[in-house]
Amino acid sequence: MDKKKVLVLTGGGDCPGLNAVIRGIFKRAKKEKDWEVLGSIEAFNGVMKEPVDVVRLTSKKVAGIHIKGGTILKTTNKGNPLSYPVQKEDGTWENIDKTDMLVERLKQLGIEAVINIGGDGSQLISQALYEKGVNIIGVPKTIDNDLSATDFTFGFRTAVQIATDSFDKLVTTAESHHRVMIMEVMGRDAGWIALHTAIAGGAELCLIPEIPYDIHKVVNHINKRYKKGKGFANIVIAEGAKPKGGEVFQKEAKLKHEEHVRLGGVAYLLSRQLKDAGCQAEIREAVLGHVQRGGTPIAFDRILATLFGVKAFEMVLDREFGNMVCYRGNKICTVSLKEATSTYNFVDKDSYLIKAARGVGISFGD
Ligand code: F6P
Repeated sequence: MDKKKVLVLTGGGDCPGLNAVIRGIFKRAKKEKDWEVLGSIEAFNGVMKEPVDVVRLTSKKVAGIHIKGGTILKTTNKGNPLSYPVQKEDGTWENIDKTDMLVERLKQLGIEAVINIGGDGSQLISQALYEKGVNIIGVPKTIDNDLSATDFTFGFRTAVQIATDSFDKLVTTAESHHRVMIMEVMGRDAGWIALHTAIAGGAELCLIPEIPYDIHKVVNHINKRYKKGKGFANIVIAEGAKPKGGEVFQKEAKLKHEEHVRLGGVAYLLSRQLKDAGCQAEIREAVLGHVQRGGTPIAFDRILATLFGVKAFEMVLDREFGNMVCYRGNKICTVSLKEATSTYNFVDKDSYLIKAARGVGISFGD
């Protein structure tokens, strides 16, 4: 008897814990004699490619992968079937809708169900495919923790740990040189990584997208600290932070075939702004970048990712298609893809987290 096929894929930026989800799905599915697990290489590109790039997962392929960073299925943020970038002969790009072709391919491959592991962009694709009749389940993923339907995404806490370890190192060098040290972390629209790192590391200032900063207030806060004789200051800034009335700093203009504008480098901009606003201290910058997304996931993220993987397959068995697995109030639950993709999870300016951060002397420059 032919086994039923569940197709797994990872889309968007990679994130520590993706492999633990894949392993969780595979191990749970293995308990069901009539199912097999396939993987599409590089998100949906594997299915849309000619010839297709789809692999059958085996115990050997998934053994021990829960401790590895990245994704054994590879990923991309250039493979959105809703708006697929195609380069024309004259070198220009156009975006075409490839969803009908994708749905047809899934049928040809005999796929019974799809588990799409990805962030907001990937889950919008899941919803669109669900509306076209695909039996699809979403698994939320992002180090930014900006998905509203889940209290936490796997990968976030690993990113915070990496950022905190780096921050601790920068504190000792800032102290030794009486410097202002600016550490830039990821967080395009939401400042979760910056905020958690600032509290864990004991930063003097934390600049996040949700609270635009006033550069003069930032300088005043630094000066006060120098006047007290402490003579150094550590700042955490999210890549999407901006000054009051200003714009987000873009590293490069958006290329036609890329999903999002590239951020990164706001630490250098802040450094210049501080000097221009009269900051006398010596300043150095450190941009963490993709270091935050690589390497082995911490235990919490491995566990959360494993629970998500097991649940996602059980949702396939229960035919709960059109839904996403999530983590709410310490429970693994489900939410419709529609609800999951309707809003973002931003840092609430009035939350206790912000209040507590202010309580231990962290300034948001506002
Ligand atoms: O969304 C996750 C994220 O890590 C953002 O924080 C960051 O801006 C972006 O991905 C970087 O994407 P890329 O890997 O395409 O440079």
